[in-house]
Amino acid sequence: MSDLNLILSGSEQSIAAYQDAIDQSTQAVVAWLKQPEMYQGKTVEQLRERINLEFNAEGLGNQAAIERAVEYFLKDSLSVHHPQCVAHLHCPSLVISQAAEVFINATNQSMDSWDQSPSATIMEVKLVEWLREQVGFAAGDAGVFTSGGTQSNLMGLMLARDAFFARQGHSVQQDGLTGDLSKLKVFCSENAHFSVQKNMALMGLGYRSVTLVKTDEFSRMDVSDLAEKLAQAKANGEQVMAIVATAGTTDAGAIDPLADIAALAAKENIWVHVDAAWGGALLLSEKYRHYLNGLELVDSVTLDFHKQFFQTISCGAFLLKDARHYQLMRYQAAYLNSDFDEEHGVPNLVSKSLQTTRRFDALKLWMGLEALGKKQYAEIIDNGVTLAQDVATFVTEQPHLELVMQPQLASVLFRFRPEQGDTAFVALLNQRIGDALLASGAANVGVTEADGVTCLKLTLLNPTVNLQDIKVLLGSVKECGLQLLNA
Ligand SMILES: Cc1ncc(COP(=O)(O)O)c(C=O)c1O
Repeated sequence: MSDLNLILSGSEQSIAAYQDAIDQSTQAVVAWLKQPEMYQGKTVEQLRERINLEFNAEGLGNQAAIERAVEYFLKDSLSVHHPQCVAHLHCPSLVISQAAEVFINATNQSMDSWDQSPSATIMEVKLVEWLREQVGFAAGDAGVFTSGGTQSNLMGLMLARDAFFARQGHSVQQDGLTGDLSKLKVFCSENAHFSVQKNMALMGLGYRSVTLVKTDEFSRMDVSDLAEKLAQAKANGEQVMAIVATAGTTDAGAIDPLADIAALAAKENIWVHVDAAWGGALLLSEKYRHYLNGLELVDSVTLDFHKQFFQTISCGAFLLKDARHYQLMRYQAAYLNSDFDEEHGVPNLVSKSLQTTRRFDALKLWMGLEALGKKQYAEIIDNGVTLAQDVATFVTEQPHLELVMQPQLASVLFRFRPEQGDTAFVALLNQRIGDALLASGAANVGVTEADGVTCLKLTLLNPTVNLQDIKVLLGSVKECGLQLLNA
């Protein structure tokens, strides 16, 4: 055996090696944070050329491996905290989240069984109980932390599907899918996240199982179209296993009318899952909490803390209203969650999760809540929503800029609008503006489509960004657009 310092342990040498490696890494991060640029502007080809794995017989040692990571990874990373970095639902992280990562990483607890994460398991369960309370679910602990929105949506859809079959006396878990599957449908709005389609494909039901409901002028699900399509589905002999409502669509931040959807679904005994990956942040807001009214009525909920809760990736949760549905995915592994353990009340969380080995990501939210307190947390969440409204007003006053939709959460959809040019020309121009700004390293602005219109998107999660920063960014957008027009 060579060097025992390679493994983190209680030995003096290991602790010294750990501290050296962490000191060297944090010093590099500090230097990187102080870089003024958002991105060094390298192209895909340049990075591909430059970055190569050095895996030789002897090993480089920790110090050299860290130096190489600084050179090849850190220097060309995107500064997500930069005021001009506003393309995606990709947040800068809380300082306390970084501290939590130190604990999570060094202790390397695994959340599948209590004997691998004793205090962590109890903390996660308590946090799930607290989250349920925020949503308005009955007291209980049905829910689990996940890798993010996609996995939480998968859990919601899978349990909805299996509950649907269970009502007909069939166990999908035991016997697989059955019957005419072409008749089995999920309804969601045209603006729901693509993970609905991907998850339905993964579950063996295909994209064709997803019926898209029309949206109104604010990208929210049109409930009258939902009612019509549900009636049509019934007439066609189709069976609806779930409705997925969205609280905070990826681009527009639209929140579907949750209470109306839940009321309609209740009449037909249809499972409602709410993808609140983004809008779930409003649970902490005093000003905007009411946007989520109706959330307490649904069967399952996706929350994502690596969006507007400012946690490092990854950190999400799935909440299940009725704990009995967890039976549908129950599996007992003798080495993890035995009967014996369950009879003795040992909370082995593997029974609630699709994952087996799992990080203690809940600690980040736990420490975030404790460090910030409700008031400060609410303030940094509300900041983005208010800023988006101010930016939208500013955009409407600018020549060459056109607001595409009134903001609802913390995003602004707009486009550069030359005096002349058909739809395709304007679409290409806006795409080029987005590309040129990133290539120059100046800004990362989203390029997306709203109602078929190619537009630019500012996702204003970052609470350290103010209207002045965004005015500068919009100035760059205009300048770039005019340059491209003249070129
Ligand atoms: C509304 C919505 N749901 C789900 C997801 C997927 O979440 P994740 O990337 O955490 O899997 C996203 C991602 O942006 C989203 O915007």
